Amino acid sequence: MSKVKVGIIGCGNISSIYCEAGEKFPILDIVACADLDFERAKTRAKQYNIPNAYTVEELLADSDIDIVINLTIPQAHAQVCLAALEAGKHVYVEKPLAITREDGEKILLLANKKGLRVGGAPDTFLGGGLQTCRKLIDDGVMGEVIGTTAFMMSPGHENWHPDPEFYYKSGGGPMFDMGPYYLTAMISLIGPIRRVTGSARISFPERKITSEPRFGQTIQVEVPTHIAGVLDFENGAVGTIITSFDIAGSKLPHMEIYGSKGSIIVPDPNTFGGPVLLRKHGSLKWEEVPLTHGFTNNSRGIGVADMAEALQTGRPHRANGELAFHVLDAMHAFIESSERGIHFELSSTCKKPEPLPVNI
Ligand SMILES: NC(=O)c1ccc[n+]([C@@H]2O[C@H](COP(=O)([O-])OP(=O)(O)OC[C@H]3O[C@@H](n4cnc5c(N)ncnc54)[C@H](O)[C@@H]3O)[C@@H](O)[C@H]2O)c1
Repeated sequence: MSKVKVGIIGCGNISSIYCEAGEKFPILDIVACADLDFERAKTRAKQYNIPNAYTVEELLADSDIDIVINLTIPQAHAQVCLAALEAGKHVYVEKPLAITREDGEKILLLANKKGLRVGGAPDTFLGGGLQTCRKLIDDGVMGEVIGTTAFMMSPGHENWHPDPEFYYKSGGGPMFDMGPYYLTAMISLIGPIRRVTGSARISFPERKITSEPRFGQTIQVEVPTHIAGVLDFENGAVGTIITSFDIAGSKLPHMEIYGSKGSIIVPDPNTFGGPVLLRKHGSLKWEEVPLTHGFTNNSRGIGVADMAEALQTGRPHRANGELAFHVLDAMHAFIESSERGIHFELSSTCKKPEPLPVNI
């Protein structure tokens, strides 16, 4: 397959791993990077031998570029996605797709109108760990899926991220930051969600930054930082999720799935590898299941590579806009359910993405 030319917009913290994607996935040819802060674009270009450090406008005007990877902060996701689509480029955006449902819809509509593709992180569900879980489910080893539990219990990001403010503003919070990993994993393993129920709170209205360079500064918290939810899936399975930035520590698992024939302990959905543990009904032991798929190291970019390949063959890509929008819709629904005291029926849905073949 021929290479697809890619430009990266947003050269912050997460951009390094995407800059390496050109080496890991031969279909991706990263030809340019851009940032509002031009110095950051220059630094990344130099570090990773990317031929062009551009301003955002220059990158969008480069007619050689087919796919824009949008690694800006969530508050800029929609604006940058829409600008890339307007410029005639396919776009793959870090999570979440957008902050509001309205912006998410605008992105999907514009892409549809222009015949362009939208892809969205996370792509960890394409890693060897979660694909092995998917195979266990698809092969019937678990029987009928009864339910799932997922726990993202953390003390927040102000102790390590150099610029953690956005995690506590609109579009941030543990559900919008980490929920996409858990919800995308659930949807890829179980299927789309029918309705959700949530309860949410802000435990600490102010957060002190303890990372450099903003050590000692205070962040005013504007979004819920502890959210507990229940999910009813379209296929009848029932899930439970807690996402929190307010927890000192916890021994709860990242994620488990329960079936009529057995349970699996799913690896951390923010990672690509294992371990995957299976316990069948009647057994007293957990057994570690050998991983059936590759991409077990940090393989961020596999979703873009899959989209690039899909563009050439005409098939649907897996980490797609409909999936990312369904996740966005569900995340809002947990908060709205909490505010309004109702079960929230989702109006969006999506197809369960195809599993990856075992031999790649
Ligand atoms: N840091 C992580 O570990 C991590 C992990 C997974 C996903 N993400 C996601 O990746 C995205 C970026 O996170 P980050 O940690 O790299 O943030 P960051 O603040 O380190 O970097 C964001 C970069 O985007 C640039 N930017 C902001 N608005 C822009 C615009 N309109 N046009 C061009 N550039 C713009 C900023 O100047 C900055 O360099 C977020 O959506 C986040 O949710 C981050």
